[in-house]
Amino acid sequence: MTGSSGRSVALVTGASRGIGRGIARRLAEAGYDLTVSARDPARLEEAAGQLAVAGGRVHPVAADLAVEKDICRLAEEHTEHHGRLDVLVLGAGVGFSAPLAETSKRRYDLQFDVNVRAPFVLLQAVLPLLRETAAAHPDRGAKIIALASITGVAAEPALAAYGATKAALISLCQSVNAEASADGVSATAICPGYVDTDMTAWVRDRIEPHRMIRVQDVAELAFSVTRLSAHAVVPELVVTRPGEQVWRA
Ligand SMILES: NC(=O)c1ccc[n+]([C@@H]2O[C@H](COP(=O)([O-])OP(=O)(O)OC[C@H]3O[C@@H](n4cnc5c(N)ncnc54)[C@H](OP(=O)(O)O)[C@@H]3O)[C@@H](O)[C@H]2O)c1
Repeated sequence: MTGSSGRSVALVTGASRGIGRGIARRLAEAGYDLTVSARDPARLEEAAGQLAVAGGRVHPVAADLAVEKDICRLAEEHTEHHGRLDVLVLGAGVGFSAPLAETSKRRYDLQFDVNVRAPFVLLQAVLPLLRETAAAHPDRGAKIIALASITGVAAEPALAAYGATKAALISLCQSVNAEASADGVSATAICPGYVDTDMTAWVRDRIEPHRMIRVQDVAELAFSVTRLSAHAVVPELVVTRPGEQVWRA
């Protein structure tokens, strides 16, 4: 255990697919040891196997982040296994499209549970580890990367509940910066428009995948933030698709 390898360590949620997996791969290639998490154990094991090819230690933890005890177990297993945390990637998220008036309370709650409550609870659990890293490496600090969305910055029709969760996540990042950036722990909310992943399958008949942002673009942006010194705090980064109207998903 313990980060005794001296390598940097990241915990990535939503790492089995899509953007989280892309960021995990970028970090693995850069020499990070990882804890990776998602619900589906088979898919997570497959992702962990691929990520380990880069040579680092990869610890998979299957967890449903809508369930508080799973979040706590994830934090405990990460601490037990690696004993160190340099980068926390809050990647897991869910989204349902429906007009505001037709959004069910059940779907509203699920989106807030996974997209806001889970990051909040996980952050509470691992902030001490991030603070330890920042104290030991004051020039580099420790980073939190949260996958928010452009819908948290500019409203999109039929994504009211989802957009509200992402606005809350952006606010959570700001609060981390207000409370912990002077001690070297900073948070960045990355706010992309449509990225070509499973999550945007529902919109492919309207926007072709090749017109969407690429996973690698978001992964590269996230990685670049992890390379900044503790003297630069980036609260949020908006990434939009090319076109005449840029403040839309
Ligand atoms: N794609 C976009 O256009 C876009 C744009 C802006 C922001 N985002 C945000 O970026 C993040 C990643 O999106 P994506 O497009 O990569 O999504 P994705 O391809 O659907 O992947 C979602 C990931 O989160 C995991 N996940 C979902 N529900 C979970 C739960 N309850 N507990 C634990 N893990 C869960 C999934 O694995 P399991 O299903 O196995 O749990 C998977 O690993 C999300 O927060 C999303 O809101 C996406």
